[in-house]
Amino acid sequence: MIQFDHLHKSYGEGPDAHEVLHDINLDIRDGEVFGILGSSGAGKSTLVRCINLLERPTKGRVLIDGNDVTNATGAELARLRSSIGMIFQDFNLFQQRTVLRNITFPLELHHVPAAQRKARAERLLDLVGLSDYADRYPSQLSGGQQQRVAIARALANNPSIMLCDEATSALDSTTTVQILDLLRRINRDMNVTMVVITHSLAVARNICDRIAMIDGGRIVEEGETETLFDNPKSDILKALIASANAQNHRGGDGHDAANAADGSAATDGSKEVR
Ligand SMILES: Nc1ncnc2c1ncn2[C@@H]1O[C@H](COP(=O)(O)OP(=O)(O)OP(=O)(O)O)[C@@H](O)[C@H]1O
Ligand SMILES: [Mg+2]
Repeated sequence: MIQFDHLHKSYGEGPDAHEVLHDINLDIRDGEVFGILGSSGAGKSTLVRCINLLERPTKGRVLIDGNDVTNATGAELARLRSSIGMIFQDFNLFQQRTVLRNITFPLELHHVPAAQRKARAERLLDLVGLSDYADRYPSQLSGGQQQRVAIARALANNPSIMLCDEATSALDSTTTVQILDLLRRINRDMNVTMVVITHSLAVARNICDRIAMIDGGRIVEEGETETLFDNPKSDILKALIASANAQNHRGGDGHDAANAADGSAATDGSKEVR
């Protein structure tokens, strides 16, 4: 369980300080896919980066499995980070390393012997469907393939939590659905709790069990995905749903995976998001 307890986050110091997260209280349960949905600048990345302490909360606490990790340093921080994998919109692979050596990198940091590193990386490559790509470099892969490598690397240390920050935003709608399927499979088969940041209703609806909608640094609503979509309460979610539906009726542009939200083809404008 990941818990945010009256969490606040400000950037800047003294008179320049401005608070971007205001009194966040949230429980993310073990084994679920939890969505953080919101517009650009809402505070999604900041919130999720407080889980692995890439950002330090200014006030309040983060608890993982009941342990207050807010002020973790040294070995405790290293242990926390190795139990949490993270993937990003722009993949963040090491360009000078092969696919295999991208995946072994976190294991090198933990001084895992070379033969074990290689064996683990090969198993993970197989899991993400890239067994034949071990010796390639990131620049020789498509975006979807690069994200698969990033997913394999994020899994290297056998994390119990995975943070996905707009992991499919740079991908087309077909590739998005494939990556979401992979993440769902990892969630189910490896019992990894997933925290999925997205601004896309379609992505949220496709993969998330529950969602928190964040606006201006506040959680404006949260709940089971279907309940939220069927009966949105906040103005922002109502507006997003209306706008996605209008776009679908116009036929959409096929780029935002909105049309694929319910499995319909990217060019099928007949299905609504809700
Ligand atoms: N390092 C930083 N220093 C100062 N302000 C920051 C910093 N990082 C983010 N912010 C500000 O905090 C607010 C929330 O940013 P954040 O990146 O968390 O939003 P987001 O919801 O992830 O947006 P996006 O969808 O564009 O990624 C924004 O106003 C942003 O300008
Ligand atoms: Mg962000």
